[in-house]
Amino acid sequence: MVKKYVVKRSGKFWPSEEMKRIAWVSDDKIYKEAEKNLIKFWEKLAKEGITWEQEWNETYYEKLPYFEWFKGGKLNFCVNAVDRHLDKGSKTALIWIPEPLNEKPIKITYAELYEKVNRFANVLKGLGVKKHDVVSIYLPLIPEALIAMLACTRIGAIHSVVFSAFSAEALKTRILDGNAKILITADGYYRRGKKEYLIKKAKKAVKGTDIKKIIVVNRLGKKVFGRKYLDFKKELGKAETYYKPEIMNSEDIMFILYTSGTTGRPKGVIHDIGGYAVQAYWTSKWNFNLHDDDVMWCTADIGWITGHTYAFYGPLLNGATTLIYEGAPDFPDPSRWWKIIKENNVSVFYTAPTAIRMFMRFGDKYVSKHKLDSLKILGTVGEPIDKGAWMWYFNKIGKGRCPVIDTWWQTETGGTLINALPGVGPFVPTISGRSFPGTKHIIVDDKGKLSQEGKTGNLVQVSPFAPGMLHGIYKNHKKYAETYWKRFKTKYDTSDGAYLNKGLIRITGRTDDVMKVAGHRLTTAELENALNNHRLVNESAIVPTPHKIKGQVPVAFVVLKGRKKGSERLIKKLKKHIDKVIGPTARPEKIYFVQDLPKTRSGKIMRRILKSIINNEKPEGLTTLVNPEIVKDIKGLISEEGK
Ligand code: WT7
Repeated sequence: MVKKYVVKRSGKFWPSEEMKRIAWVSDDKIYKEAEKNLIKFWEKLAKEGITWEQEWNETYYEKLPYFEWFKGGKLNFCVNAVDRHLDKGSKTALIWIPEPLNEKPIKITYAELYEKVNRFANVLKGLGVKKHDVVSIYLPLIPEALIAMLACTRIGAIHSVVFSAFSAEALKTRILDGNAKILITADGYYRRGKKEYLIKKAKKAVKGTDIKKIIVVNRLGKKVFGRKYLDFKKELGKAETYYKPEIMNSEDIMFILYTSGTTGRPKGVIHDIGGYAVQAYWTSKWNFNLHDDDVMWCTADIGWITGHTYAFYGPLLNGATTLIYEGAPDFPDPSRWWKIIKENNVSVFYTAPTAIRMFMRFGDKYVSKHKLDSLKILGTVGEPIDKGAWMWYFNKIGKGRCPVIDTWWQTETGGTLINALPGVGPFVPTISGRSFPGTKHIIVDDKGKLSQEGKTGNLVQVSPFAPGMLHGIYKNHKKYAETYWKRFKTKYDTSDGAYLNKGLIRITGRTDDVMKVAGHRLTTAELENALNNHRLVNESAIVPTPHKIKGQVPVAFVVLKGRKKGSERLIKKLKKHIDKVIGPTARPEKIYFVQDLPKTRSGKIMRRILKSIINNEKPEGLTTLVNPEIVKDIKGLISEEGK
């Protein structure tokens, strides 16, 4: 009999008896218990979930804007993710699905993973990588990514993963920021049946950096020559099979992951080892109810925090099986994902609203023929999910049997923070739910005063801050202090809007200049910088506009040098330019050439006004402009196009 994990009661969805029976947490007493003493609560979880070499002497220490968990504690992350599961070494740790249908999936057991990671740790050591060194990783979703990342954690090196779709320039900035000496990349990967060559971009990126060696995974069979290049597999084969794990301090840096900064320079978000491990372990366990026999598929790329925490580290810390897929969701056709779920008995499926909306557009026929009865829990993340997409996900993928867990979090938070727990509920479309037990979020107005239920305000986190929270911005204290602590002083500023609905949190979206394009985070500033660097561009403004599938897309207003008129050809060129500088994710949906941008007397570009124009709203605040006449011109340009 196919099991049902949710029931409907008074217009809301709740866990069924069956879900309560299998859930790690099935009673909302957990929230009260945590609140009695949040620090003690995490202390208990840390002891229970993570294997320490030495216990900490101070559980929580706070001197804002910094705070530390498990101070004095010692551990190795890799030991927690791999070594401690060796008693069931024959269990599958990773299932990898290559995109080409004629290639067989690869399964790697915990014992095999252990050997490979140990070997690769020795490879890195052989190349002179030491504790606290940064290693850059520019890999697609292939098993070597996991091996490389874990090997870094074994030797105590800091990994810095860069999304494979990012440009050479984006990679270069990140290599330079971390001062990495080693780059791990691949010749390429498959995407929609095509070979995407990563190595070309990697070669370009390392010019002018301190990269000494480039370890290349041979995925496409392309020969890579040169003194600097090493073959991943060959090196692995030559290496010793054991590397004694480095014992690290809990607060040592485990990895850096870049996210867009408001000034255009990416921010290297720092995560430590102990706190991150504790949050990754418990959020994976409780949100997705991971047990030994679960197969979790988080569709995020490892270039993002979701990929770090829920495609790799969370499931492995729990000794579960994780699945990753190399290719495009609609290749060779839009039933690919559902076949993968069926063929691999995926029980926990975690994806983004943009993917859900894409599948809705393809039509039900691709999914309705699949029973998908292995599924127990569905998750969503990355941007607010609308009711239509939530219900479609619930009904068509979950067949009305599985809870949809709408997890709110950020690169900075390391792990999920606001969502319903599967055994507790309720599961309400568009509402994320409650703060994860042991954490606390409130909603305040711009002055920092508590907002009333139903009123939209700023979502902030209050002390003690969650263990998985960032430990700063790499080499940029000022940015860290300004971005997260300037506005509300003692509260962590998420830059998200939210309101309370019967005590549950509903996220409304970013309140700063960050856009979420197909779940990817972009700032207007980094896009404008990229455009302004083009030799024909004088200045530009980027504004987000709603998009049916991607949620939001950037629209560009460009003033050319000499106020020249643009052309279709130049639009194509500028889009290519963005692909090159940042990556195709950031490509503007539309580019308008304008004679001027609406500006205040002090020269500030009024993006808000441009936003109202493209969204067909009445622009306000025109009186503050030095050039109000330009608004009419731009309106004309846009309505002309709509004809
Ligand atoms: C921003 C963080 C960490 C996961 C991947 C995104 C938005 C994230 C939700 C959600 C509404 C969400 C927020 C947040 N966001 N999850 N469930 N509901 N909005 O990480 O790229 O660092 O982006 O994504 O705006 O601040 P990220």
